[in-house]
Amino acid sequence: MSRMVIDGGFPLSGSVRINGAKNSALPIMAASILCQGPIVLKNIPKLNDVETMAKVLEALGIKIQINDCGDWKLSSFSGVNEEAPYELVKTMRASFFVMGPLLARRKCARVPLPGGCAIGVRPVNIHLKGFEALGARVGLDAGYAVAKADKLIGTKVHFDFPSVGATENLMMAATLAEGTTIIENAAREPEIEDLADFINSMGGKIKGAGTPTISIDGVNELGSVEYKIIPDRIEAGTFMVLGALSKGAISVENCIPVHSGAVIEKLREMGACLDFQDSRVIVSGKKRLLPVELKTLPFPGFPTDMQAQFMVAMCLAGGTSIITESVFENRFMHVGELIRMGANLSIRDRTVVIKGVEKLKGAPLVATDLRAGAAMVIAGLVADGRTEVSKVHHIHRGYQNFVERINALGAKIQYFDGDGDE
Ligand code: EPZ
Repeated sequence: MSRMVIDGGFPLSGSVRINGAKNSALPIMAASILCQGPIVLKNIPKLNDVETMAKVLEALGIKIQINDCGDWKLSSFSGVNEEAPYELVKTMRASFFVMGPLLARRKCARVPLPGGCAIGVRPVNIHLKGFEALGARVGLDAGYAVAKADKLIGTKVHFDFPSVGATENLMMAATLAEGTTIIENAAREPEIEDLADFINSMGGKIKGAGTPTISIDGVNELGSVEYKIIPDRIEAGTFMVLGALSKGAISVENCIPVHSGAVIEKLREMGACLDFQDSRVIVSGKKRLLPVELKTLPFPGFPTDMQAQFMVAMCLAGGTSIITESVFENRFMHVGELIRMGANLSIRDRTVVIKGVEKLKGAPLVATDLRAGAAMVIAGLVADGRTEVSKVHHIHRGYQNFVERINALGAKIQYFDGDGDE
């Protein structure tokens, strides 16, 4: 089983360059289905999830070439298949993003329903409601979501919850529909704007991305384009938290601070020092951090994907902090792991009360999901003694060269590759 062995307590300093955003790359790669291309995508991160999405697209008939600079060239001159393979979709729920563009291009799509994961059931009812609103006949068949339409007609759809994936899937489906689609209560994450900018650069007509109301004027076809995706705000936030705990200073480079507003504000509230220079944020924590309260919310609220990382910082703060997780129903799997390090945590429903302690002690831990895994590494870096984190394949889904980049800051992490039995 893949694991990381971390010797904690070393001060960390230096700079880290932020890669392209995983949660932009995945929907934008799926959106390549909307046109035969060729499409060139730049700043695509080297991640397991990106590799999985590439395999799903190739199974659908998309031709993919990656040049020496790491640019991705995607094309589908001979069309696309309508069915995504279960074996791949079951390993990565974001594969469900192909449903909207397949429906738009082929007027039919057959995609396995993504299962739940460690952080929640993660249904796709809002996605399917959106497809039906456009005129598709949607059903379930042997675990597959099936959608067919003679044609897609623009309409107004109100989302019960500002779902990121549903907003992206419906934006893609509506891009080639007849007429105008309005999404009300849309998600506002920067990755939504990035997807809209990409589709518009191909000739799409999307307005209002990044606001709660998005309008999509359907077009007949889209053209080739070269597009660079935005940097990863969650990767940036993860290294900012590390900087605040580092006993040194970490320069987070090539990020877009305005995408990390809530995270930066919370770090300031905790007493971290942040200096801003163009596209870099230098984060340091001269003294013990202060306790804070936070509640995860859809953007621009505090991101749920930063909750576990902040919990580590709060474990060591001088006082009592509170975290409320309002986005996912089961995103506290890391609490038990931190308690094993000596953290003083208690869960009440979707709230955790964190009483700061002077020290965390190294211990064997399990990475329970992608962001919790990153949080376990941070905990091991600031703890006394040795920490071993197992199931670190979760981390490789969303963080490129994580060990190398942290060791370059002065850390002592050894990585042992599993023999496949993740
Ligand atoms: C995206 O997931 C991200 N993944 C997640 O990042 C992120 O945590 C999440 O948005 C929230 O910001 C990608 O972009 C690939 P949602 P998504 O639909 O689209 C409920 C990471 O670590 N819901 O906004 O699945 C759902 O159950 C990952 O990079 C429905 O009820 O998130 C959840 O409680 C983890 N019905 C809430 O909405 C639906 O049809 C938020 O889900 C869809 C969602």
